[in-house]
Amino acid sequence: MCGIVGYIGQNEAAPILIKGLKKLEYRGYDSAGIAVFGDGIHVVKTKGRLADLDQKVQQQGGVKGMVGIGHTRWATHGAPSDVNSHPHTSMNGRISVVHNGIIENYLQLKAELEEKGYVFASETDTEVVAQLFDSCYNGDMVDTLIQVIGKIRGSYALGILCNEKPDEIVAVRKDSPMLVGLGKGENFIASDIPALLEYTKDYYLLNDNEIVVLKKDSVTILDMDKNEIQKEIYNVTWDISAAEKGGYDYFMMKEIMEQPKAFQATISPRIVDGDIQLDQIQYTNEDIQNINRIHIIACGSAWHAAIVGKYVIEGYARIPVEVDLASEFRYRNPILNQNDVCIVISQSGETADTLAALREAKRQGIRILSIVNVVGSSIARESDDVLYTWAGPEIAVATTKGYSTQVALMYLLALKFGQVRGHISKEDMQMLVKELQQIPDCIEKLLSLQDEMKALAKAHAHANDVFVIGRGIDYAVAMEGSLKLKEISYIHSEAYAAGELKHGTISLIEEGTLVIAIATQDQLYEKLVSNVKEVKARGAYVVALAKEGNTEIAEVADKVIYIPHVHDTFTASLNVIPMQIFAYYVAVERGCDVDMPRNLAKSVTVE
Ligand code: AGP
Ligand code: GLU
Repeated sequence: MCGIVGYIGQNEAAPILIKGLKKLEYRGYDSAGIAVFGDGIHVVKTKGRLADLDQKVQQQGGVKGMVGIGHTRWATHGAPSDVNSHPHTSMNGRISVVHNGIIENYLQLKAELEEKGYVFASETDTEVVAQLFDSCYNGDMVDTLIQVIGKIRGSYALGILCNEKPDEIVAVRKDSPMLVGLGKGENFIASDIPALLEYTKDYYLLNDNEIVVLKKDSVTILDMDKNEIQKEIYNVTWDISAAEKGGYDYFMMKEIMEQPKAFQATISPRIVDGDIQLDQIQYTNEDIQNINRIHIIACGSAWHAAIVGKYVIEGYARIPVEVDLASEFRYRNPILNQNDVCIVISQSGETADTLAALREAKRQGIRILSIVNVVGSSIARESDDVLYTWAGPEIAVATTKGYSTQVALMYLLALKFGQVRGHISKEDMQMLVKELQQIPDCIEKLLSLQDEMKALAKAHAHANDVFVIGRGIDYAVAMEGSLKLKEISYIHSEAYAAGELKHGTISLIEEGTLVIAIATQDQLYEKLVSNVKEVKARGAYVVALAKEGNTEIAEVADKVIYIPHVHDTFTASLNVIPMQIFAYYVAVERGCDVDMPRNLAKSVTVE
């Protein structure tokens, strides 16, 4: 994960690069830099944020030139520092490179280059690419790039400048995202669309091993044999405001508030006259009836959505579901059969672990159905079928509407598959669909909990440990609530199956420990109340999430947050809202950078 921007045109490149990188800071922000071709290639780079880079550029009186590349980094090889930041240049200054990804064989290549007399300045894998490009350079950028690609192994999105080629940038991607922005008398490369929305809505979405030759009046896409590839122009429909904060202090709150709209946008086109229609995927009723097992693969919050998926798909479609962490799936030698389906969930569609797991399942001939938010992303393009969440661009590192719309599609798949496989009667289907269509309004209602959650956050912002417990689907959403808190406030939090707490972890409960108990599964309610009493007996302060009208729980818990009545199946979409808002205000109270939490990045495009 990192952000790359490249520009070639008739305007000064530096301001465009820095502005574009700022829009990509959510992808990684431990250091940043630009290389601009004016009177030779001028590189300015620094540890820290884009603001630090901007300041450094200003201190040098600006950097002149109309061709340039820029990078905002999430370090993998070499700690964040000035010298490890990108762009990296060959020791003779001829070649400058920005890179997103990991060069897995960089040490071997580095040793070979040192043998040839190359001296390295940084600890990074990326500097090897710059030096290697220089060592292979034969005057033709594309030829040289093809040679370099033949020698490096790993993941990369590369932008490359040569001080002998003032009128071109070459670029290529493999496993890491990159797209081409098409302008008038100017052209761009970038890791993601928000960087370029101000300049163009027309893009080429690059596939792996497609080489870009970017000039101000032309863009050429070549394959590895230098054959030109004709690409379709992808026209972005959302506007720059969608990628702006819209008056909120942080993108995260904007995106929390967008959830009713995002949920509605994701389900309503797929519910026609009370019936669920998933025409975007090529599954006949027979295909659905023949599904033997479903493997849902994801990371982080997407994995939490997958856990909800397991409960609802097994509950309604009676199809066995295995849920795997993507980073584990590909190494556990999974048992996959021909009639299995792999559902891959990813907001960014670029998560390296998830992409690698998808490829492993595909290698074994399994049909891939992905649930992705970013249109045209790698995971989407490598799947057999894609159900897009229509949440719009999600900028905050901590996902909210991305997760909510992933859960929405889990519901739709469960009900559709259950109906086709004859497990849901017509009457039940009508009731369930009607309940599902209430969710956006119920979320809207919960968004008014701001003051209540803010007060709760103030009271607990300095907790050392927080436990979030639940049973069944409530346990699945407890995982997401716990991660939100950890991710943005840095408070240690654990989600626990409420019935499991007594098997060890309850030893950690002491006077005043905050326990958030989710109590919205009617059939499991009594058991959950018992678990609340167990932690209360050991001094916990319990905040319960319960359905409106449940006055009994107020006798047991110290505080109750009420959620609107919906069918138990859909409570996950409601319980998560107060936990998102709580985590947000705890992070604000603790002075954390809510949108760009330490150590994290929005899209983890390295394994
Ligand atoms: C969620 O708030 C985190 N940012 C993280 O767990 C995220 O869900 C995970 O990295 C997966 O990302 P993806 O959905 O883009 O694949
Ligand atoms: N592996 C490279 C480095 O550590 C690139 C990391 C990134 O994608 O930001 O500098």
